[in-house]
Amino acid sequence: MSDERQRVTIRELREMKGRGQRIVTLTCYDALFARLLDAAGVDVLLVGDSVNQVLAAADTTLSATLEQMIYHTKLVARGAARALVICDMPFMTYQISREDALRNCGRVLVDVGIPVMGHLGLTPQSVHALGGYRVQGRDAAAAARLLDDAQALADAGAFAVVLELIPAPLASRITKALTIPTIGIGAGPACDGQVLVLHDMLGLNEGFNPKFLKRYAALAEDVREAVRRFAAEVREGRYPGAEHSVEQ
Ligand code: KIV
Repeated sequence: MSDERQRVTIRELREMKGRGQRIVTLTCYDALFARLLDAAGVDVLLVGDSVNQVLAAADTTLSATLEQMIYHTKLVARGAARALVICDMPFMTYQISREDALRNCGRVLVDVGIPVMGHLGLTPQSVHALGGYRVQGRDAAAAARLLDDAQALADAGAFAVVLELIPAPLASRITKALTIPTIGIGAGPACDGQVLVLHDMLGLNEGFNPKFLKRYAALAEDVREAVRRFAAEVREGRYPGAEHSVEQ
């Protein structure tokens, strides 16, 4: 595919919901992967504040800073020609006041009129307040609150909402109730789209095994095997061979 392709817009996401066409979303933190995911036809690249968990072995997303998010968003935007790029607002960049949130969002985006995607259920920025990484909205009261919150986000103009770690029937109710798309992670099959953390679905992060995760590759083992072969060839003097060397 060429770089002439038009970038996916938030309007198109809503049209996809209308057509029943599922929205394919993956997290992404760099230009190299952005290029690969874009070429594979991913619709949305989410620059998640999971970046420090995935790349820096942090326990939670809380250490991600706005500066980091801006940096990674620039890299992803550089690599992606078609996919819509969305940047997570990290912990304490939007909670203090509306003005603060707007100022911080404005630092990420160059255009005025900042499109916002909501995030409900297990919100990693509130992991301690929620008592850890656990399924949200299990009882009737919590489910009703999530439904109200989802409607409030849509009414406030959010263009989509991520539903993370909630029961599938609740995600289905929310998806049916909203005119904006829902993107699920651990929220069952009825959502308008699905998102996974790229490194988890590629099998690079072997220590993370939640029920919702499906691995589509086993790259951690591929990496170890490639490095073992390289190490063996270096130690045995088999690399570089004549074909990798310049004689004069
Ligand atoms: O930060 C992140 O990667 C996310 C996804 C898990 C949805 O919010």
